[in-house]
Amino acid sequence: MSYISRLGSAFSKSSMFASEFFLDLYMYAHYCGISPFQDRRNKTYYKLIIETHAIEKGLSLANPRMLFGRKKITEIMKAARRYGIGSNDLPILMATGALQDYLALHRSAGLSDPLLDSIDAFLKDRATASAVLGSGGLRHYPDGMPSPSPEKAALLTSRFSCRMFSPEPLDAETVKEIVRIAQTAPSQCNRQATKIHFYSNRERIGQLLALQAGSAGFAETVTGLVVVAFDLAAWGGAQQRNQGYVDASLFAMNLMLAAHAMGAASCPLNLAVPHSTERQIKIVGEIPKDQRLVMMIALGRPADGPLKSAASPRRTIDEILTIRDQAVAAA
Ligand SMILES: Cc1cc2nc3c(=O)[nH]c(=O)nc-3n(C[C@H](O)[C@H](O)[C@H](O)COP(=O)(O)O)c2cc1C
Repeated sequence: MSYISRLGSAFSKSSMFASEFFLDLYMYAHYCGISPFQDRRNKTYYKLIIETHAIEKGLSLANPRMLFGRKKITEIMKAARRYGIGSNDLPILMATGALQDYLALHRSAGLSDPLLDSIDAFLKDRATASAVLGSGGLRHYPDGMPSPSPEKAALLTSRFSCRMFSPEPLDAETVKEIVRIAQTAPSQCNRQATKIHFYSNRERIGQLLALQAGSAGFAETVTGLVVVAFDLAAWGGAQQRNQGYVDASLFAMNLMLAAHAMGAASCPLNLAVPHSTERQIKIVGEIPKDQRLVMMIALGRPADGPLKSAASPRRTIDEILTIRDQAVAAA
């Protein structure tokens, strides 16, 4: 290959990097939840789910702080009224359920506050507007962590994000076994670029979770922490730029299911952080520079006794499944 054609090929490869990154930027900026080009109702839909889930999570803590989330709750009620208080769409069902549980918790503690009165009024308006009750709030596990039964798919359907951990950590052998089972996750060309970093030192876990910022209220109870990462070296070319995230996410899901199969509790933790924070996490966690971070997972033994978790209801199947072609019975 001549010098000119090598130069041309190098230029064309580099310009593809630029165009692929630009298209990522364009798609994201144009359609994301803060874009002025995105439909307002669509934005409220997601905003309501996100904000309500924060309340569900607060309720699911072992000892929720009284009157937590005052500002968020006021915004949820405002957004729900704007969306349509009589609607039976998921965000309204979630908000109603979470506010019902929030009110019940505070009333049973004998508290009175203008916030509680406004929730009361909101729920009355909701009851007048629709006969359907909410489905957000909490799921209860009075007998502790449900053990997966041999029933079809029970391992999958009984897993949940647990934010109530026992002070007794998992032993290293169990952690190893969980990761070994998780290695059954598929990966592109079986390249297995996912890396699992596990921490059990309380001080280091505290430092890492402070950089993560999604574990407020239960960070101090986390006895084991996983950082899911991937080796950049496994991927080449602009068109592969997201593939490490795909493989690592599949691995992470397998890891949480493996943990559940082993009777452990887990909670996925986002790493939607800027490069500067990612660098800090790598320093604290002694993670090589040529790995990208995907997410964290709190991993431990479930707390003894009754457990509760955010309800996190799912959308109806018709909202997410589009069968484009009707199945044709074989002749
Ligand atoms: C990538 C990812 C990041 C998440 N980040 C957090 C987090 O930072 N803090 C948290 O408490 N839960 C976090 N979650 C847990 C979700 O809230 C939870 O998976 C969702 O509500 C569904 O509930 P379930 O896991 O109990 O079925 C995260 C989940 C995923 C998949």
